[in-house]
Amino acid sequence: MWKIPTLSLQTQQAFVVDELREYVSDASEMICDGATVAFPTETVYGLGADARNSDAVAQIFAAKGRPADNPLIVHIASQEQLGSFVMGVNEWEQQLIDQFWPGPLTLILPVKADALSPLVTAGLTTVGVRIPEHPVALALLAECNVPVAAPSANRSGKPSPTQAKHVWEDLHGRINGIVDGGAANVGVESTVVEVVDDMLYILRPGGITSEQLQAALPQAKIRFSKQSDKDAPKSPGVKYAHYAPNGQLQLVTGATSEEVVAFINKSVVQARKHGEKTAVLAYSEMLPFYKADRCFDIGARNNPEQGAQQLYDVLRQCDAQGIDRIWAEYPPEGGLHEALRNRLFKAAAAHLIDLS
Ligand code: TXA
Ligand code: MG
Repeated sequence: MWKIPTLSLQTQQAFVVDELREYVSDASEMICDGATVAFPTETVYGLGADARNSDAVAQIFAAKGRPADNPLIVHIASQEQLGSFVMGVNEWEQQLIDQFWPGPLTLILPVKADALSPLVTAGLTTVGVRIPEHPVALALLAECNVPVAAPSANRSGKPSPTQAKHVWEDLHGRINGIVDGGAANVGVESTVVEVVDDMLYILRPGGITSEQLQAALPQAKIRFSKQSDKDAPKSPGVKYAHYAPNGQLQLVTGATSEEVVAFINKSVVQARKHGEKTAVLAYSEMLPFYKADRCFDIGARNNPEQGAQQLYDVLRQCDAQGIDRIWAEYPPEGGLHEALRNRLFKAAAAHLIDLS
């Protein structure tokens, strides 16, 4: 068990709690008292507050600098808690719950009027809900026994936090506590889905893949919901810049990996002429071929799980090392690669170069 740096509710001073039970109790008490506490989940760290308490939820938006029209995901420890704030669950939704909870799947469900702070839902008639699969999160949520609103615990627009120190970097002094449960196992956020008639819309790709969803619901038509898709449900968060490092990130894809390497190395030479510090995010097998100031290994190309675990930390390392220009190999389609493509595309503000 790591030492757990926490900020006390009363003093805002750092202190250390080294017993898991003690710190979970502390954090749960703080949340019930209307404080904001960051805690680990299997995807990324969340910044939690009592979802029924508008003052507490307002502190989440203030600490993150999050636009008020971007609703928050609500976290619970057990399905029994759903009834207190959700109108109902249909057959497909129940099948998804049975199959994927606890886990990295967020369902958009109809919310009961006045059951949650209107800030959580940003005025929508639906709410995003999940049961996370992390022992610390589950213990905390069970002890609070209230629905806990928890967006990723980063400053809005920055890479999400996969370690407690990332939360500290972004939110230290702005929130009331952090519980440190080590590095997040999945590393990218939950998949956000909405069932509409015979369609299952993926509003945000994440830890559960479309292939897994299709296997669970063979009769469903699955569609990735795009901002340009006028009939599809929207995730308000999708329109905002996200996950961005300070340096300029460019994604590169091509018919062959040699072509991609040649392009990136040429760009690195150019950038260095202008005195810029360069970095490349590359799959393990391609790493030796790059000539940037820093080359970050994001795992084997056929192992997107590794890439997901590394991505946000690597983007933060680029910032810590004052990198001006970053190039990344654009991941292939399918499976967990989709979540990586989505996060990288946003982090790069859509700067994608296709050489093929
Ligand atoms: O893995 C995760 O989901 C993490 C951990 C902490 O659980 N949480 C997370 O929350 O990523 P956040 O707030 O950073 O992202 C929530 C996303 C946003 O894109 C938001 O727009 C969307 O879910 N969302 C929330 N409620 C919604 C709703 N009622 N309808 C459509 N989209 C919604
Ligand atoms: Mg987020």
